[in-house]
Amino acid sequence: MTRPTIVAGNWKMNGSVAMAENLTEEIAAGAKDSKAKLIICPPFPYLDAVVRTLGDSEIHVGGQNLADQPDAGAYTGEVSGAMLRDIGCWYAIVGHSERRSLYGESSEAVAIKFGLARDAGLVPILCVGETLEQRESGQMEAVLKAQLTAVIDMHGVDALQDAILAYEPVWAIGTGKTASPEQAQQAHAFLREQVAAQNATIANVLPILYGGSVKPGNAPELFAQTDVDGGLIGGASLKAEDFLGIASAAS
Ligand code: PGA
Repeated sequence: MTRPTIVAGNWKMNGSVAMAENLTEEIAAGAKDSKAKLIICPPFPYLDAVVRTLGDSEIHVGGQNLADQPDAGAYTGEVSGAMLRDIGCWYAIVGHSERRSLYGESSEAVAIKFGLARDAGLVPILCVGETLEQRESGQMEAVLKAQLTAVIDMHGVDALQDAILAYEPVWAIGTGKTASPEQAQQAHAFLREQVAAQNATIANVLPILYGGSVKPGNAPELFAQTDVDGGLIGGASLKAEDFLGIASAAS
């Protein structure tokens, strides 16, 4: 099974209008022959600038989060899936470890957002990953399974049909410490097996991205792993050269 390589950039809380426009222009100009499918996830206030700058480019845009409410209403500070879709997004990251750890999002809350993203016509990019402590105490598989199962239990395995999974070991995010290709492959294979146990067809086509200190230098080896279908890139997505360098690791 060959799955397309996807490289998504998560800018986190960084940027300005000028930076968003410049970076997007540089990425779009350099990505013309990219073999990877590229996604840019800027902060909400810059979505419009990124969407407009991209024009009819094949690069797509995603939100970094969305509200846990289906309908418009009195939810101060929140942005709904419908609004993201309205402004030109096709994707939404859900369950990033920073949302889980800093903003207290439980796996159940993440599963609700996952469903709402789909309902709004967005492809959810579901992040899962263990902390160093969990890995060192042998709980990695249990943690990944619980985070994934929360979504499957709420929406059924079929909901993974038009979704993207991202394995992001918390200890590798923004730390410069990358999972080795073998560690990534092992976790990705485990995640795919969990899905395959319920639906082998969906498991086969499900893109599983690796995230955590991906750089142009380590991307080729990571992306060469059987079950690694691209990357979710934080820090290195803020520099066109690095993001494009990572994208060029797609075969
Ligand atoms: P990083 O972040 O590439 O800066 O480690 C990855 C992420 O949080 O998605």
